[in-house]
Order: sequence, then structure tokens, then C-alpha cells
Amino acid sequence: MERIFGRPIVTQEEMRARIREMGKQITIDYAGKDFVLVGVLKGAYAFYADLARAIRIPMRVDFLMVTSDGAQVKASDKVKTVKMMTELTEDIAGKDVLLVEDIVDSGLTAQHLIKTLAKKKPRSIKICTLLSKTDRRTSTVTIDYVGFKIPNKYVVGYGLDYQQKYRNLPYLAVLDMEGDQE
Ligand code: IMP
Ligand code: MG
Repeated sequence: MERIFGRPIVTQEEMRARIREMGKQITIDYAGKDFVLVGVLKGAYAFYADLARAIRIPMRVDFLMVTSDGAQVKASDKVKTVKMMTELTEDIAGKDVLLVEDIVDSGLTAQHLIKTLAKKKPRSIKICTLLSKTDRRTSTVTIDYVGFKIPNKYVVGYGLDYQQKYRNLPYLAVLDMEGDQE
């Protein structure tokens, strides 16, 4: 059965306004730098597309695809294994890299990516995430740009999935865990 989602936790208008602000800040912070915006797929695809167009400086675009054993709602309650499925195509050595994530929960994915990409010797590497669940952070990784802090609820839409579905919902909604079998 298809789910019907109720009131958005973040509306399209709120999203648009916040992303415009983030784009302005990143434009200021990265002006004059050799800037590479790296999207973490699949979840960040919608945010990335909007954020990139809110940034008004020259940049290179690149993407990574990662999987974590995070198909379950309570993914972070277990030991998480993060796997990079694809490599970057740009050489990031000496460049200023900004990683774009959909959501930082435990922070383990972000931590793993920073550690892995640091080996390629970028000049700097920072993280920008649309959403952050600070309650569940187990890693000490620093998140440099946060769109919205959200409570510890499982959310879908605007790129985020539940079992690979609902990514195309144009707003962010809390997944209703009642009657979970489809
Ligand atoms: P972390 O490694 O625990 O920070 O988890 C980050 C990843 O878990 C994200 O990139 C998402 O794929 C997934 N995730 C965490 N919370 C949610 C959620 O509420 N909805 C959808 N995916 C989530
Ligand atoms: Mg996911």
C-alpha cells in the first residue's frame, strides 16, 4: 500500500528560504577558492541541486555514492558499516572541498567520508548537511553548515528514503511508523 504523508516537518517554502541563506554564506566563505562541491548520493541529490544553484561562485561538481547498512529506521542503533560505492572523478588535491549530505545522524558516515577523502590531500574539507539529528550523534565530527536541526524522528522526502522509496516527495515528512507493513 502507498503511504499518504500529512503535514510537512519542513515545507517547500522553508526549505527554499534556508537553502538560499546557506548558498549566500557558502558564496562568501568560498569566494576566490578552488572550490569542489561533492554530493553524497543518493540522499543528497535534491538538496545538492538546489544548493548548487544558490551558490554564486565558480565551482566543480562531483559525486560519491555511499551505502550504509542504514535501510532500517533504527540504523544507528547498530554498528554501522559505511561503504563508498563510487570514486570521485575530480582530483581534489589542493582544492577546497565541501561535502553535501542529506542528513547527519550518528555522524559515522560523515566521519568515514572525511577520513577517506583527507587521504587525497584536499586543501580543506568541510561538511554541509540539510538536516541534523543532534540527539543521536556518536561521532565527534564537526558539521560546518546545517540547514535544519530536527528531532529524533525518521524523515522521508526531498531526497531521503525509507527502503529506497519516497525520495521524490517534494517536502520533508515524518514517517508514520504505525502499521508498518505495506
Ligand atoms: P549517520 O551515519 O548515522 O550519520 O547516518 C546518515 C545516513 O543515515 C544518511 O545519509 C541517511 O541515508 C540515513 N538516515 C539517517 N536518518 C535518516 C532519516 O530520518 N531518514 C532517512 N534516512 C536517514
Ligand atoms: Mg539512506
